[in-house]
Amino acid sequence: MELIDGKKISSQIKEEIAQEVEKIKENEGKIPHLAAIIVGHDGASETYVGHKEKACLQVGFNSTVVRFENDIAEDTLLRKVDELNKNTDIDGIIVQLPLPKHISEQKIIESIDPRKDVDGFHPINIGRMVIGLPSYVSATPAGIVELIKRYNIETSGKDVVVIGRSNIVGKPISILLSQKSEYGNATVTLTHSRTKNLKEIVSRADIVIVAMGQAEFLTADMVKEGAVIIDVGITRVKSDKTKSGWKLLGDVKFDEVSKKASYITPVPGGVGPMTIVSLLQNTLKSAKGEIYAKI
Ligand code: GUN
Repeated sequence: MELIDGKKISSQIKEEIAQEVEKIKENEGKIPHLAAIIVGHDGASETYVGHKEKACLQVGFNSTVVRFENDIAEDTLLRKVDELNKNTDIDGIIVQLPLPKHISEQKIIESIDPRKDVDGFHPINIGRMVIGLPSYVSATPAGIVELIKRYNIETSGKDVVVIGRSNIVGKPISILLSQKSEYGNATVTLTHSRTKNLKEIVSRADIVIVAMGQAEFLTADMVKEGAVIIDVGITRVKSDKTKSGWKLLGDVKFDEVSKKASYITPVPGGVGPMTIVSLLQNTLKSAKGEIYAKI
């Protein structure tokens, strides 16, 4: 069994990005710039945005965080997004979700210029991804594909089973891995809460991607000997063995599944660290004008 070390790969990629940023600065005098909007004081959102800001600074990007109180009017938020859309110094815009109930998340997502939508949530980017055009792919599926690339895991002709059909993980990763592309060409089965015979379907898979948010759901009896296991779950549970009193569990029962797997991602330290790196990669692509260059 080989551990897929997302922590190590994400540090390597950050170094690669930092080197590219240096080159762009030297040659074009440009510094990639990510703007993040955060509404309210949700603890998890504050933490995520803090990590994103720190990662930007680590690789030499500029980072702007715009903060609003919970009672901000939808119109005010839309005007801010519009201002960032028009600001030629800004390459990427993210609006941290969730938003307060009186604001339509979909309306806000669709107000972001798709050319700056480095979260890849805009229907134009999702549509472009589905038909195989260059697009911003959202953080988790992009991070999974990057890990598959870096570990040279063969996907062509392989049976992939994805568990969970969310818009930001299950659906996009199913499309990417079935795409006619270097890291695609897999036969993908997308399973969900109404799937019958899940165990039987999963036990045939060469690659299993679990993104359902149920701690330690996938057990050894469900997987084939030698399967590649990608665990997207993160559930926080109480623990008397850690200083913080909490620990993170994935969707995979790691101790037993790792004995049968050829490759497996740990939680924490697998897919998680890759998500911020994907956001940085998207912002760099935007700064270089790569995605929408040919239309
Ligand atoms: N909330 C949880 N994950 C994300 C993410 O990837 N992007 C944004 N904008 N909000 C989130």
